[in-house]
Amino acid sequence: MKKAIELAPDSWLPGGKPDPLIHHQHGHVGKPMSRIDGPLKVKGAARFSAEFPLADMTYAAVAFSTIAKGRIAALDIKAASEAPGVVLVMTHLNAPPMKPTPLFMTNAKAAGGDNLAVMQDDRIHWNGQPIAVVLAETQEQADHAKSLIRVEYEAEPATTSLAAAKAQGTEPGQFMGEPLKLEIGDAEAQLAAAPHKISVTYRTPRQNHNAIEPHAATMAWNGEELRVHDASQGVAHTAWSLAKIFDIDEKQVNVTSPYVGGGFGSKCLWQHQVLGAASAKLAGRPVRIALSREGVFRVVGGRGLTEQHVAIGAQPDGRFTSIIHTGVTVMTRHNAFPEPFIIATRSGYAADTFKLDVEVAYIDMAANTFMRAPGEAVGTFGLECAIDELAEELGMDPIELRIRNEPEKDPTEGTPFSSRHIVEAYRAGAERFGWSQRTAPGTRREGEWLVGMGCATGTYPYYRMPGGAARITLTRDGRATVAVAAHEMGMGTATVNLSVAAERLGLPLYSVSIEYGDSTLPGVILAGGSQQTASIGASVIAAQRVLVTELLKLAGNDSPLAGLGADQVGGYDAGLAKLDEPERHESYASILSRAGRDEVVAEASAPAPLELQHWSMHSYSAIFCEVRVNAVTGETRVNRVLGSFDCGRILNPKTAASQFRGGIIMGLGLALMEETEFDERNGRIMNASLADYHVPVHLDVPPIEVIWTDIPDPHTPMGAHGIGEIGITGTGAAVANAVYNATGKRIRDLPVTLDKLM
Ligand code: MOS
Repeated sequence: MKKAIELAPDSWLPGGKPDPLIHHQHGHVGKPMSRIDGPLKVKGAARFSAEFPLADMTYAAVAFSTIAKGRIAALDIKAASEAPGVVLVMTHLNAPPMKPTPLFMTNAKAAGGDNLAVMQDDRIHWNGQPIAVVLAETQEQADHAKSLIRVEYEAEPATTSLAAAKAQGTEPGQFMGEPLKLEIGDAEAQLAAAPHKISVTYRTPRQNHNAIEPHAATMAWNGEELRVHDASQGVAHTAWSLAKIFDIDEKQVNVTSPYVGGGFGSKCLWQHQVLGAASAKLAGRPVRIALSREGVFRVVGGRGLTEQHVAIGAQPDGRFTSIIHTGVTVMTRHNAFPEPFIIATRSGYAADTFKLDVEVAYIDMAANTFMRAPGEAVGTFGLECAIDELAEELGMDPIELRIRNEPEKDPTEGTPFSSRHIVEAYRAGAERFGWSQRTAPGTRREGEWLVGMGCATGTYPYYRMPGGAARITLTRDGRATVAVAAHEMGMGTATVNLSVAAERLGLPLYSVSIEYGDSTLPGVILAGGSQQTASIGASVIAAQRVLVTELLKLAGNDSPLAGLGADQVGGYDAGLAKLDEPERHESYASILSRAGRDEVVAEASAPAPLELQHWSMHSYSAIFCEVRVNAVTGETRVNRVLGSFDCGRILNPKTAASQFRGGIIMGLGLALMEETEFDERNGRIMNASLADYHVPVHLDVPPIEVIWTDIPDPHTPMGAHGIGEIGITGTGAAVANAVYNATGKRIRDLPVTLDKLM
């Protein structure tokens, strides 16, 4: 348990004072600004990774293994090599030497899904592993030649079912270096003694990433220097990892990624970038390696299945005496990513005792990775359905049961919450949604349709990873450029951070530009964990502080700012002003002209994320859902959804609403559709296409209303919490709880499909 410290210095701020930006009422922040990349995307002028033209390009096709474990006994590439347009066939027999891929998150910079060496021997580790790469003059020629490759395997017994994996024994899971195990008091004894209780098992299936843009990279070597146009949510991480693999200096790899067609955790380093770089080296020509949709299923990992046991004991007044959330997930031995489904349970509710545990069973499969609120998305399904079940047992309204167990401080860490207004979010959401209209289970019928309402709490941690840095270049014409190795994957990062930087600098939006998506820019910022904006924010604050110090020096004694320290001034009206006396102002243009300077450059690293040690920090939501279930066919349709969010200050209501809605739509898919069909006979994914792997389409998505508390958290940069992943959390449970309310049938096994309801 971490030690509670009452007064946290807000480390990114001068003297620990509240960020003045939080309280600006008339600036850019908080305005519904349209995405600055919108027009470029609509015009087709935004260039994605598979669209960079390079002279003398070759196109790659990847062949995948069809067994789960064993070795390649024979590989016939003759016909493929002689096929029209073929430049090269690369296999383990001719691939250049490469070091093993660093394992994801075991080092702050590492970015590989597994820790295997790529194409260095004849071993097969999963069904779908790349076994050959064909380079040809066109994509079609490469695809055709790939079909001519003949392989013989020596298969070995593989573990490809949960039952077999569990029979071999499980091991305690670890998530980013921390054990997924926690016990406070004797939860089992408290459960046994509890007058009211629920003890059930929930199951969630494997899921695969399906961003609209399949993974792709266009790359070329220039001597020992590697240039990669990637689709990436971690350009610096990928550059570092590729440098390790090819045993060159990190500075010799430049990864850029200005536009990404969705990442959701999947757009990091996988074998395709490594294979692209290796084959480009071997061929001495640039390579475009664009995975097919099937290729993404084979090469890129997703979410492991979970089997969650949830038990809650309660007093007659609803107070929890015991929370037990334990179970199993699966991963490969070459991976460090067990689906951490207990994370939300650590801080969700007050209880006298806790027992939390994620065990790992090992399967021969592709490496898991971050996927759309890893842990919380499926963990809140178990926890929040269990609370609905317990509310029924107690004869209590499920919202009242939650409010009754609202913790005063973090129930397992003991730290105070930095900002938690979930009760307000529930009250506002219930009112707006019309929660009071909810009837007893199975009692509301409209023709063939049974109608019901459900709700659930969503939660996602506030993170800020170390390594952020930014550079601000201010020129004499009063323009600023902010450079940061961050990413725009479609969520609005560039737009939001432009407005935040402009406000902080006291400049109009048109005077500021943002450079991002390039590994040579300052910082190591991952667009993951919903933490990118906080990380950029803390970095820009640090760089701006250096800039202000420099400008005050240049301003000298003839300025209205003379004698002021950096803590006393802020960006205001295209210059600097004393914070509490804005008439003491000098414009940037004036300061630079008098000093005879064309520009000032300031670069700084963000301070360590100490706020995380002092506070329990999370985004929250109350999700409300109304469904109808057809009494004849079992078909479920979602009538409407309302998300009531408490995520600190909302920086841009327009892009935020879009992120909330997008997350909720993913939650609808998780609840009703998404499931990777994994053949337990051979470990092969059977539905490796969007025809067979179902995600919500327009007709599946009802009107989604989103509202928020907009209460700034005084302990984060800009007062904001992450909003990228919160929408998906809680949504699965809200849908399942609504299905129960409609039908009286409790489905504890996702997705909730009609066969389970019939
Ligand atoms: Mo998110 S799953 O951390 O991209």
